[in-house]
Order: sequence, then structure tokens, then C-alpha cells
Amino acid sequence: MAKKRLYLVYFSPSGSTEKIVKMVANEIANLDEFEVEKINLLYSANRKKKYHFTKDDLVVFGCASAGKLFTLSEEMFECLQAKETPFIGLITYGNAYYGIAIKEMFERANKSGFSVVSLGAFISRRSIDMSLAHDRPDASDLEIIKNFAKKSYEKFLSGDFALHDELKTGWGDWELGKQVIAYRQEHPEVPYTLPPEYKSKEISDACKKCGTCVKNCPTDAIDIENKIFDLDKCIACWACINHCVQHAIKSTSKEFMDIVDSFVKASGRRQEPSLFF
Ligand SMILES: Cc1cc2nc3c(=O)[nH]c(=O)nc-3n(C[C@H](O)[C@H](O)[C@H](O)COP(=O)(O)O)c2cc1C
Repeated sequence: MAKKRLYLVYFSPSGSTEKIVKMVANEIANLDEFEVEKINLLYSANRKKKYHFTKDDLVVFGCASAGKLFTLSEEMFECLQAKETPFIGLITYGNAYYGIAIKEMFERANKSGFSVVSLGAFISRRSIDMSLAHDRPDASDLEIIKNFAKKSYEKFLSGDFALHDELKTGWGDWELGKQVIAYRQEHPEVPYTLPPEYKSKEISDACKKCGTCVKNCPTDAIDIENKIFDLDKCIACWACINHCVQHAIKSTSKEFMDIVDSFVKASGRRQEPSLFF
């Protein structure tokens, strides 16, 4: 009999989401025999392909969150074509809040033909400035991640491919977040994109033009020869900044950094993973 297929699919600009997807998948792979395949949706070339999944496959999907899924989520899910394929979904966030990301993931996965078995919002180091959650996931998170994987797989084996828990938004201690969600619910037509002035960056003389930032930019927004960013294409995912070996790229947006500071002030309390089955 052919082995079952386990797919690891992720959009992980700075690597933490990929790490947690692998933790979940490793736990599942310890429980059964699988053929494992990885699909890295950070690369625009991969998002241009089509991936077809059957009812017998199992997909573990992870996406970083910015209070919602990153701007490319529609494109990400469009390249995934499922037929009632069981889906274990995770989002990661940097100890502030995951906002509406879990709900969005549920909706998008259903639209692509997946059957959502379980969802989890996990805390990982905050990619913007590393000032929050720099040691997450820690040992306590790992236990929760392992149990999440085990319970998800048991549910998958039982043939129950439906989500029963009520999905919740998560706003941490950030009061303003509750107002943001109310506004977004009233105005679904407003796109979630940052204006260009929030995305401005500069590349210092330490840059050796090695091309690592270009390779990891999900929207091909970097002209490294001229050290220019196309800020209309940039989605502010921080991949270029965190992948740069020389630490030569930094944000120059005071507007954005002011918002970041307000998040940090509102994010003192340790958040714990939220799980939905
Ligand atoms: C533009 C941007 C916005 C973010 N917004 C939030 C946020 O609203 N709440 C939060 O807790 N973390 C936020 N983060 C932190 C990331 O969600 C977190 O670090 C995530 O684990 C990054 O995953 P990655 O390492 O796979 O890129 C944001 C990060 C970026 C780059």
C-alpha cells in the first residue's frame, strides 16, 4: 500500500513559523509512516505553481501573522487545490495578539477545499525587533505543540474532519485592537496594506550584495544593484532584514516604529497558545 503523504506548507518570512510547522509535523511523522513533502510559499516562484491534494493527504500549514494573515494569503491559498483534504493550520505571532488571523485561515482553507481538523495560534519571537518573545517557543510551548500535534492526528485518524470549537479573535491586552476589529467588520472592503512610508528601509555600506535578501523577498521587491526597494510591492514581512547576513538592512520608518512601540507597551503579559479542535 502506498504511504500516506504529509505536506508541510508554510509562509515564514523570518523562520519561526517554519520551525513550528516542522515541530508539529515531526511529532505526527513519529506516529505513522509518511512520505513528507515541503512547500515553501515565501518564494514567489512556488506561489505561481498549483498543488493538488487528495482526501488521503494531510496538510500542516503555517503562516506568520500581523494581527491578520500576511497580505499574500489570498495568493497562497489560491495555489493550493484541495479536495476535502484534512488541514492542520497554525499561525504564529510575537506575543502581542493574533487578531483575526485564525478566522481568516479557517475561511481561506475552506474556500480552497480543505477540511479543517484543528487550528493553533502559537507565540514565537517577534520578527520586527526581537524585543518580545525572543525565547519562544520555549519548553512549555514545545509540550503544548507536541500535544496539539498528537491530538490533531488522533482526530484525523478518527475521520472527524470538522472544527467544533468556536473560533475567537485574539487581541492580547491591546484595547485598540478591539476597535480595529469592529472597524474591519464594518468595512470589509478596506484592504489591509501599509502605506509606502511605513515600509521605508535602507541598506548600509555593510551590504556585500550577496543576494540573500533578494532570494528571500516574497514579492521580488529588491533591486540590490541599486539598493532600492519597490515599496508598492513590499509587504513589510521583515524577511530581508532578518535574513541579511551582514545586518545591513533596517527600517527607516518612524511611523512604523512608533506603532511597534505602542504594541510593545501593550504586550507585556505572557500570551499562551490558543488551540481549536
Ligand atoms: C509587519 C509585521 C507585523 C506584525 N504584527 C504583529 C502583531 O500584530 N502581533 C504580534 O503579536 N506579532 C506581530 N508580528 C510578529 C510576527 O507575527 C511573529 O514574529 C511571527 O512569529 C513571525 O514569523 P516568522 O518568523 O515565520 O516570520 C508582526 C511582524 C511583522 C513583520
